[in-house]
Amino acid sequence: MLSGMRMSDIIEKKRNGGQLQTSEIDFFIKGYTNDKIPDYQVSALLMVIYYQGMNKQEVADLTNAMVESGDTIDLTPIKGKKVDKHSTGGVGDKTSFIVAPLVAYMGIPVAKMSGRGLGHTGGTIDKLESIEGFNAELNREQFLHNVNKYKIAIISQSGNLTPADKKLYALRDVTATVDSIPLIASSIMSKKIASGADAIVLDVKTGSGAFMKSIEEAKELAKTMVDIGKSLNKKTVAIISDMNQPLGYEIGNANEVKEAIEVLKGKKVDDLRKVSLAIASHMTILGGIFKDYSTAYKELEKVLDSGLALETFKSFIQAQGGNPDIVDNPSKLPQSKYKYEIKSPKKGFISEIEAQTIGRSAMLLGAGRKTKDEPIDHSAGITLTKKIGDKVDAGEIIALLQSNIQDVHDSIEILSKAINISDKPVKEISMVYDIID
Ligand code: URA
Repeated sequence: MLSGMRMSDIIEKKRNGGQLQTSEIDFFIKGYTNDKIPDYQVSALLMVIYYQGMNKQEVADLTNAMVESGDTIDLTPIKGKKVDKHSTGGVGDKTSFIVAPLVAYMGIPVAKMSGRGLGHTGGTIDKLESIEGFNAELNREQFLHNVNKYKIAIISQSGNLTPADKKLYALRDVTATVDSIPLIASSIMSKKIASGADAIVLDVKTGSGAFMKSIEEAKELAKTMVDIGKSLNKKTVAIISDMNQPLGYEIGNANEVKEAIEVLKGKKVDDLRKVSLAIASHMTILGGIFKDYSTAYKELEKVLDSGLALETFKSFIQAQGGNPDIVDNPSKLPQSKYKYEIKSPKKGFISEIEAQTIGRSAMLLGAGRKTKDEPIDHSAGITLTKKIGDKVDAGEIIALLQSNIQDVHDSIEILSKAINISDKPVKEISMVYDIID
């Protein structure tokens, strides 16, 4: 530990509007990771950061200190430019299963570490584990081998990556300091940088189902993360995309894998396709495949429609022990015992499908976890049959629920409140609002 520094001085300096030096940020992160600085002092500093904010240099220093708090993944044995993607979280977000095979087909290696879900948002690993036999726990050699041979491997976060972020995130959760832009930005970017990518594409969600409720806040978060990337020499691009309603029609683990496969077969799920193509376009530009966005988008659209990326997806699943038959026959994915129909109480136009509440309803059906160690039901979920702007008749089905729980009145009640119908026509939502690079 650096001599002469005191945590109370650092808290006081930040409280009074001062700028923290690199050495002070290193001191606090090292001390906290090594249990030398207690939670109560770090809580105070987090709250001060929450109110005072951080400038570009401080956020970059904080990110770097968190990266250096643990192991980092060395992806240099993988040939080619490794471009990672990250979404700030939403409901029904299965873009990774479309984007990864699409960019891998174009020659960009995808070496991805992903997490499990908690609360109303799902996790990529849980979704993949709905495929019989899928193994997300590859060791380093297998991981590198699979990326070199099949162009994609997606594994569960393992090892001692960014331990400072893990401790800080848990503390932020109980001290009302999660929704601070510098803290979110450094938390996300530290994990991406420690995972070894050369370049990063971020999908920053905005809307009722996202951390960032307004486009302005989402832009600020995106800009902060792009600036961190610049400071730490990782080219970073962010798109701002909508999360006022779930992405696509399917929510739940097996449900989302099934919908991603349909899109890889060429199905036109408009919002999901647009966001996936936007992310993939930026990844291929950063990977040096295309020079400009409109060419990238058009070419990737052709590949998606041709079904070629589906074969890449299939070989990736098989290479990680998953049953590849689910691609041709999605009914081999887990199926729930009970199904319920939700009908529209009136004629009109769908005006709201509140994403966070839909996510909560799916969690209560068994698709998500309330606490970290709870098991999940891969077959449980929700299928929307309408999106915002769609016309609906009284008594028409607006959603289908799947669960192995017989009594799901709580899920039905909150889901019914989350979908609103207006008498007047409603404008469709635009999907990608902005690009920050
Ligand atoms: N996701 C993260 O990884 N960190 C945050 O702080 C918020 C969302």
